Amino acid sequence: MSVKILAIESSCDDTGAAVLVDGKVLSNHIANQQVHEQYGGVVPELASRAHQENIVPVVDIAMKAAGIKREELSAIAFTQSPGLIGSLLVGSCFAKSMAMALNIPLIGVHHMQAHVLANFIEDPKPDFPFLCLTVSGGHTQIVLCESPLQMRVIGETLDDAAGEAFDKSAKLLGLPYPGGPLIDKYAATGNPNRFKFPEPRIPGLNFSFSGLKTAILYFLQEQQQQDPAFIANNLPDICASIQQRIVTILLNKVAKAASETGIRDIAIAGGVSANSGLRNALTVYGQQHRWRTFIPKFEYCTDNAGMIAITAYYKYLAGDFADLAVVPTARAAF
Ligand code: KG4
Ligand code: ZN
Repeated sequence: MSVKILAIESSCDDTGAAVLVDGKVLSNHIANQQVHEQYGGVVPELASRAHQENIVPVVDIAMKAAGIKREELSAIAFTQSPGLIGSLLVGSCFAKSMAMALNIPLIGVHHMQAHVLANFIEDPKPDFPFLCLTVSGGHTQIVLCESPLQMRVIGETLDDAAGEAFDKSAKLLGLPYPGGPLIDKYAATGNPNRFKFPEPRIPGLNFSFSGLKTAILYFLQEQQQQDPAFIANNLPDICASIQQRIVTILLNKVAKAASETGIRDIAIAGGVSANSGLRNALTVYGQQHRWRTFIPKFEYCTDNAGMIAITAYYKYLAGDFADLAVVPTARAAF
């Protein structure tokens, strides 16, 4: 009998629903929340309210797009952790109610594990073991993956996440939230070698981005004292230089992890893996180091329910179901 899963993602500010049949994602719909833009960041209470408004229509669209009826479903999956607790509660309550009403299993999914498994939605897929650089708004991790459900973090950020480094740099440049995609856009026409920002010396496989943020702040203050229009006159070069530094910090650590573990299948995942500088640089590093590299399609990089569905599929096959009394948690290890 075929396995049909409805997956729901509501960890932060996007409401997602996806339908998977036998390991293939048939539909993947997302409703973004514009309400946060004016506040310069996600407002948790507003996010929960918007999830409540969006969840029924988003699920409806995903089910219709896949051509699947509720009665055909084998299980309902949801993001259990980590995330904003109010947002997670909306998705988990919805998933639990639907699983209870249909009398089918419930599957709780770890959001960061799902980002990694976004690399398994489409071909080509990495071989095990592989390394995944998972870079999002809240996390920066190098994950060693031994099997779909066996992963461990071998390096992570000690302060800001890579997405925060992008967003906070963008804020210093006067760009709206989330600034990561805008830095990417302006960087496309800029010279990445024009300005030099420092690479932190952090031992092992861990990262740090707070020093870079401070260096950018002082650099901009100094330049603006001489030329008040410095940012406006040099935006593409500033963005390209910041992006290049963030990307080299990330990939130099991945190269260290690859050489220490001897692993040559290297994947990236998470919202920041949508960054074109990172995607291009991974390919270049891959050629230099003879890695096989894996980059998910854009729609599976930023938050989406397709990645929750593929993770739930492996959990379904492993018989790893959640109790109806399960509660989401804001923080949790794999
Ligand atoms: O994975 P994600 O969608 O949500 C979290 O789980 O955090 O990641 C969101 C992060 C934000 O910091 C956003 O600025 C960043 O990913 N991001 C980008 C790009 N697209 C999204 N950063 C740089 N370049 C991009 N193209
Ligand atoms: Zn995410």
